[in-house]
Amino acid sequence: MKTIILFYSRSRKTALVARTLADEVNADILEVTDLNNRNGPLNYLKASMDAFRENKTLINPATVDLADYDLVYVGSPTWASKPAPAIITLIDACNFQGKDVILFATMGSSGGQNVIERMREKIEPRGGRMIKSFQVKTGGKKEIELLENVKKIVKEEDLPIYGI
Ligand SMILES: Cc1cc2nc3c(=O)[nH]c(=O)nc-3n(C[C@H](O)[C@H](O)[C@H](O)COP(=O)(O)O)c2cc1C
Repeated sequence: MKTIILFYSRSRKTALVARTLADEVNADILEVTDLNNRNGPLNYLKASMDAFRENKTLINPATVDLADYDLVYVGSPTWASKPAPAIITLIDACNFQGKDVILFATMGSSGGQNVIERMREKIEPRGGRMIKSFQVKTGGKKEIELLENVKKIVKEEDLPIYGI
C-alpha cells in the first residue's frame, strides 16, 4: 500500500510533524506552498481572516495526482480554528475517490478538532474516507519534544498498520 503525506507549514512545525511521520510510516511526502506572503504581523491578521472565511489562495503545486496512492495523510496548522487556506485550496483541487485518509492538525493550544472536522467535511464529498485523525499541540514545545510527541502518537494510534 502506498502512502503520501500532504501538508502546508508556515513556521515549519507541521513540516517537522510531517517529516517525522513520513520516516515512521514509510511514506512519500509533499509540501504545498502558499504563493501569498504569510509572514509578518499584518499578514498574520490577513491569514487569520482568510482562514476564517475559507478564502482560497494560490498554491504550488496547484494539484496533486493521488492515483498511485491508497492512503493519504493531510496535515494543516490551525489558523483561527480553521485549516490554512493552502490546505482548503489543495483539498478542492484533488480527487480523493477511493482513498483512505488520515487527517492531522497542529495548533498552538486549541482549535485542532475543528480543523480536522472541516477537512473531513471537504474531503468526504470528494470521495475520501477518513479512517483516523490526530492533533499535535506545538505551543511552547522544543523541536525534540515535538518529535518525541509525534513518535508517541504513531505508536499509540498504530499508524504503521494503516499503510500495509
Ligand atoms: C494566522 C495564524 C492563526 C493561528 N490561529 C491559531 C488558533 O486559532 N489556535 C491555535 O491553537 N493556534 C493558532 N495558531 C498557531 C499555529 O496553529 C501553530 O503554531 C501551528 O503549529 C503552526 O504550524 P506551522 O509551523 O506548520 O505553520 C495560528 C497561527 C497563525 C500563523
